Amino acid sequence: MENSKLQMNHISKIFPGVKALSDVSLALEKGEVVSLVGENGAGKSTLIHVITGQFKPDEGELYMNGKPVTFHSPNDAIAHGIGLVPQELNLIPQLSVAENIYLGVKKLKKTFPYQIDWEDMYKSAEEILDVLGMKLNVREQVGGMSVANQQLVQIARAVSQGAEILIFDEPTACLTLNETKRLMDLIRRFREEGKTIVFVSHHMEEVMELSDRVAIMRDGCLIEILEKDELNVERMINGMVGREVERNVILRKTNSQSEIFLEVRNLSRKKEFENISFSVMSGEIFGIAGLVGAGRTELVSTIFGDRQAESGEIFLEGQKVIFKEPKQAITAGIGYVPEERRNYGILPSMNIRENLTIAGISRLFRFPVIDRRQEKEIVDTYTEKVHVKMAGAEGLLTQLSGGNQQKVILARWLSMGCRFLILDEPTRGIDVLAKEEIHQLIRECADQGMTVLVVSSEMEELIQLCSRVLIMHEGKQKGVVETKEVTSEHILQIALG
Ligand SMILES: Nc1ncnc2c1ncn2[C@@H]1O[C@H](COP(=O)(O)OP(=O)(O)OP(=O)(O)O)[C@@H](O)[C@H]1O
Ligand SMILES: [Mg+2]
Repeated sequence: MENSKLQMNHISKIFPGVKALSDVSLALEKGEVVSLVGENGAGKSTLIHVITGQFKPDEGELYMNGKPVTFHSPNDAIAHGIGLVPQELNLIPQLSVAENIYLGVKKLKKTFPYQIDWEDMYKSAEEILDVLGMKLNVREQVGGMSVANQQLVQIARAVSQGAEILIFDEPTACLTLNETKRLMDLIRRFREEGKTIVFVSHHMEEVMELSDRVAIMRDGCLIEILEKDELNVERMINGMVGREVERNVILRKTNSQSEIFLEVRNLSRKKEFENISFSVMSGEIFGIAGLVGAGRTELVSTIFGDRQAESGEIFLEGQKVIFKEPKQAITAGIGYVPEERRNYGILPSMNIRENLTIAGISRLFRFPVIDRRQEKEIVDTYTEKVHVKMAGAEGLLTQLSGGNQQKVILARWLSMGCRFLILDEPTRGIDVLAKEEIHQLIRECADQGMTVLVVSSEMEELIQLCSRVLIMHEGKQKGVVETKEVTSEHILQIALG
């Protein structure tokens, strides 16, 4: 292992109450893709933060090409040729593609008065994008672009900074199928050019397809490294969980004699969705399928009162409702787990307990105080039910791993005991087994009479969870199918138009 491109030696990192990394040693070679897999909170992002200079390890050393290196800041790591495409993208939405690529790099004119050389910046940004085969307008503001394109900007930035080691932390979580394929092709190309790639994903098929080696992490430790000929999904999952797991997919039966709970009639909003009509039975788990941009999020957030329909009607238990704001929907017993948890779901200054109980706080209010005993009971029960990995509920939510934050937001609404729950991409970023547990929890809620609407880009998830699925394409309704009768390929084909 001498003179590896990057060598991590006995790395440990401790946060108050958690040993996030424990004696991790891993060597990365030139021209290979190494995947990191592990359950939510296993330490994948923390390890990445150590090799990209965001965190200083408490113990251990890094070597590059056989020489010891210490990173005091992310810029140090960049200067050593380490580029990161982070789990949460960090572009500046108001700036253009070119400015984001060259963020912090001042391209100045060679002559007095040494102003920023915009033409040169646009031109070299174009060149980089060209080489990478990315079709983006360098003058466009990144704020309005799709996540996939924003990610390309982030990749172009890393490449322009001369990255030889490129690290992708859950890059496919927000991508469509095609965008994922395109990204994987790009990654293969980087490998051929001799770059070193670190890839993190909860999608085992992607890991299988792309990796030369897979490092399995569990509770901050590196458990095992699988070589290419040893790769298999079962082995990865067993390693992640630390025991042999039996996975059996439970399909849900429809409760056919129940009554209509939600009815949507000819609902439209210009440029977003058009003439959508469907009804959902009490206690049904109903899915909405479609590709990113099909209008699914716009549709469900209209039902939740976050935006107003321009025409059409919504009925709850036969009563017409017009929600002017989400507060009214919440009062009517509706819960909503949004797609963009970072912008809408999380209260960043609050701790885990507060984030979990905030929506139902009035229920805990016993004049003049909050019933702390009941609050504790709710927090304990639900963090246990969704298996939040945390040192304690008083820690900040934002300090949990990505997947664990998502679990807390889900727990918030499941614990509310609402009558109707809208879930937009509920298991994004959640590890394989936790996903099945969360599916089971959703089924239990439905069995107790809760009606559930699930938006997902994963057709397989909809098939496993829902009795029926509405399929959308470019804002239009393409049909409602019974999941008993279709395959995920079938749904995907309709969703593709
Ligand atoms: N800044 C921080 N302060 C305190 N604890 C932290 C901090 N960052 C991470 N942790 C803890 O370190 C552990 C590992 O988290 P990490 O983000 O590395 O997990 P992960 O494997 O990336 O999970 P996921 O798949 O959910 O993204 C978790 O228990 C997390 O709560
Ligand atoms: Mg992570």
